[in-house]
Amino acid sequence: MPPKVPNSMILGIGSAVPEKVLTNQDLEKIVDTSDEWIRTRTGIERRHIVDETTKNSELSAQAAKIALQNAGIQPEEIDVILVATVTGDATFPSTACYVQELIGAVNASAMDVQAACSGFLYNMTIADSLITAGKAKYILVIGTELLSRIVDWSDRSTCVLFGDGSGAAVLGPADDSGRGVIDTYMKSDGRLTHLLCMLGGGTSVPYQKAIDDGLNWIRMEGPEVFKAAVMAMGDAATKVLEKNNMTNEDIDLLISHQANIRIIKATAKRVNMPDEKVFVNVNEFGNTSAASIPIAISEAVDQGRLKKGDMLMLVAFGGGFTWGSALIKF
Ligand code: UT7
Repeated sequence: MPPKVPNSMILGIGSAVPEKVLTNQDLEKIVDTSDEWIRTRTGIERRHIVDETTKNSELSAQAAKIALQNAGIQPEEIDVILVATVTGDATFPSTACYVQELIGAVNASAMDVQAACSGFLYNMTIADSLITAGKAKYILVIGTELLSRIVDWSDRSTCVLFGDGSGAAVLGPADDSGRGVIDTYMKSDGRLTHLLCMLGGGTSVPYQKAIDDGLNWIRMEGPEVFKAAVMAMGDAATKVLEKNNMTNEDIDLLISHQANIRIIKATAKRVNMPDEKVFVNVNEFGNTSAASIPIAISEAVDQGRLKKGDMLMLVAFGGGFTWGSALIKF
């Protein structure tokens, strides 16, 4: 069976990261850690961190404007804005509505989708489905996080891992070139919510209680998450390949969620992808959760690693647990 004919395609991509850089050496002055431990256990060398006043929606709007420009689409043409984030500007309204105002996408509907680090891929699935169903023509898909605002800067097991950033893509109807979103896959396991979470600030543990009980920060059982991430992303990659009668040899570039170089390499090994087909930028940005995949796509394009017509495999994993994959003829 030949691969599915795509209904939607990525028309433009963009990213924005804060200028301020926090190196491993900077972290050595904050917690009991070392550059050597962070580099060998995670592959991270530095991360970009926002200043005290920048809002998530503002960084998102920067990324969105670049994506719109690259797509040659005006903000008024956007039908839907989907923002994936766990660090939105406010509990409500959605960060997507703030972005809508900042970019002037006056004809769009806007909403946030919360699937932690898998959020951008979940949003791609929703966008592809809306375009396929004829419910929308142009959709702005954003993955964005200001994780520095919800990190416990006294917890060395988490604060060295995360960074801030935004990435955006404009999706629109596929042309007749065969390029576009070939397939996507999504999965969750709500039995494992406790392994990666921030319990405070919701309605179960409201703000004051969260502060009193120290629940207003990210908590993670690192080794458990590590094992699950490798298994789930390997499985998601295999599923989408098998469903589309493809093998690892059909893939030009694998971009997996940038959480840890050891996870990226172990995932690649599970699907037999050689190093030269695996994109890595976790060293520069750390784990930016929902932003990591669109930032990586954007960088891969800028570096000439990803070109029109290449077969791109995306895989992500995050809190929930949630995970997913996508096959895109770029
Ligand atoms: O984005 C969603 C997905 N998230 C992930 O995929 C993250 C998954 N997890 C990981 O990447 C890894 O589990 C970590 C990087 C978080 C931790 O690496 P690890 O190899 O699993 O280390 P560990 O948690 O088993 O800790 C090993 C040792 C411990 O010391 P002892 O008990 O062996 O004496 C930790 O206390 O390393 C210690 N440690 C540190 N040492 C220096 C933990 N954090 C640090 C640190 N600096 N920052």
